[in-house]
Amino acid sequence: MRKVKIALIGCGKAATRHRRIFRELPEAEVVAVSDLNPEKARAFAEDLSAKPYTDWRRMLEAHPEVEVVDIAVPSGLHARVALPVMREYGKHVLLEKPITLLISEAREMAETARRLGLKLVTVYQNRFNLPVKLVREALLSGHFGKPVLFSARFYWCRRQDYYDSAAWRGTWALDGGALAQQGAHHVDMLRWLAGEVESVYAEMATRLSRLEAEDILVGTIRFKNGALGTIEATTCARPRDLGAELTILGERGSARIGGFAMNEILDLAFEDGFPPPEVLEAHRKNPEDPLGFAHRECLRAALRYFAGEPPDPRLCLPEEAVASLELVQALYESAERGEPVRFPFEPQKSRLGKGV
Ligand SMILES: NC(=O)c1ccc[n+]([C@@H]2O[C@H](COP(=O)([O-])OP(=O)(O)OC[C@H]3O[C@@H](n4cnc5c(N)ncnc54)[C@H](O)[C@@H]3O)[C@@H](O)[C@H]2O)c1
Repeated sequence: MRKVKIALIGCGKAATRHRRIFRELPEAEVVAVSDLNPEKARAFAEDLSAKPYTDWRRMLEAHPEVEVVDIAVPSGLHARVALPVMREYGKHVLLEKPITLLISEAREMAETARRLGLKLVTVYQNRFNLPVKLVREALLSGHFGKPVLFSARFYWCRRQDYYDSAAWRGTWALDGGALAQQGAHHVDMLRWLAGEVESVYAEMATRLSRLEAEDILVGTIRFKNGALGTIEATTCARPRDLGAELTILGERGSARIGGFAMNEILDLAFEDGFPPPEVLEAHRKNPEDPLGFAHRECLRAALRYFAGEPPDPRLCLPEEAVASLELVQALYESAERGEPVRFPFEPQKSRLGKGV
């Protein structure tokens, strides 16, 4: 496996995890890093034996050998960075979730990657959870039978200090609330597993923290396959995180995955006896990994794809990242309009990505 030459843009929390994983993955070689904050860039550079920059354009001009740009800046800035990285510098892009906040920008990013023949991967690491792998295989091979319900919920604890830790957090222009920030993962999971959406309805509120966007959103979804879905997204769990759950019910089987991040099977039963006990055991729970098992697997799969291997089917490619964002936007649009939203739709009242 050859090493892929990477440049990082954004040296914050998410990138810290990427940094630690890249340091260990034999597939990765980070040659340069950039952050508006020179201290952060310097600390990352030292840790990775890379060159630090405060201006990512100067970084890419100085390092033509870079193949992949890993972008982990605030969500509302993703398109502003990723589009010129592809258009002007011709680089593949690894992007933290969500792809961006505006559907129009997301479509432009997907179209740009397609037209230029560049790879654009959005990091939705929960797709790499072992229990999710098993459940997806069960879905694809028909063990659930006719699908009835796809439900995702997370009850996490984010206090005021989290929202105050960076000016962009919880703003409509750059982040969104519990749904767009933390819930992006759960929405992506629902959309990825259940498929296309017919309509949604949602209510949202800001209950416990001071932020522009919501700290709780509850929504219902009607999928094109006839199944119904629910999402409960909140950072209002107190006094601590309660976890994140995914439930799937079908006419011949059901599955409940829980743990902190949909990483542990709580219940799984199929009328046809699937899966064999050893397969169930092998997928019961993600292995303990201080760097995050799923994040590591996701980044490794992305690097192999960038290096020329066919994409792992769990990688989130551009069209899926757009579809995932459309579902986030539809839920916000419904909450703002106070009525159901049918697909296809164009957001009119949703403030996500627009600011107030
Ligand atoms: N996959 C996950 O589980 C996960 C977890 C956390 C965050 N994220 C995503 O990662 C992204 C970043 O979130 P975070 O929590 O790391 O934020 P953060 O505020 O900790 O870090 C963002 C960094 O980007 C830098 N930055 C901003 N504009 C820049 C520019 N033009 N050039 C260079 N650097 C710039 C900031 O100085 C900051 O250091 C968000 O899109 C978020 O949704 C994903």
